[in-house]
Amino acid sequence: MNIKVYEEMRVLCGYTSADAELLAKYAETTKPWIQEFVTTFYNTIFDYEPTRKVFKDGERPDREATTMQWFDQMLSGQHDEAFWQRQWVVGILHILRAVPNAFMLGMMSRVQQLFLEKVQAALPPDEALALYLAFKRATDVVAALIAESYFYTYVESMESVVGMNPTLVQRILHAEVGKRLQKERGG
Ligand code: HEM
Repeated sequence: MNIKVYEEMRVLCGYTSADAELLAKYAETTKPWIQEFVTTFYNTIFDYEPTRKVFKDGERPDREATTMQWFDQMLSGQHDEAFWQRQWVVGILHILRAVPNAFMLGMMSRVQQLFLEKVQAALPPDEALALYLAFKRATDVVAALIAESYFYTYVESMESVVGMNPTLVQRILHAEVGKRLQKERGG
């Protein structure tokens, strides 16, 4: 894992161990919702052709099982180093399975919205808000780790494949990006 990315995102989101502790405190309330979260998650991505296409025939039960585990750890507040490391690995798996970050971020937004609906229905407003914000910060750090892992791994693998010096790649890339910027601005 890239500790720098984790640390930067943690600080910028305002995520602390108090968030993990709050999630753990409410785990008895929230963990019974996991099955519903997972079913809605997969119904959403299987009902939409671009996301459905990612999956192989018969793969859904395996994916549901690992998503259940993911929710279990997230909602138990088991946010140790191994947990964050696994999120970094997800970015790499997503490259191999051609899952763009737009899919992941879209679904993370859905997950956060679902969680908000559930906590609002189950808890007094101030407790619901506090718990939602803890979940939001933790899941935003996860999304950033997956996205950055995808980006870093993609670029670094590309550099290795073409066998170019990273500084040279940076310079050539910078010039190319400058051209694209002009084009996107209609220049
Ligand atoms: C909230 C957003 C998401 C999170 C947190 C997430 C998390 C994960 C995790 C934890 C794994 C690893 C499972 C394991 O250890 O075996 C994984 C793998 C995978 N994810 Fe995601 N994912 C997200 C969104 C998506 C979306 C939107 C798709 C497809 C449209 C997707 C497709 C896959 C696939 C196909 C794998 C299997 C990789 C493999 O083992 O071959 N994910 N994801």
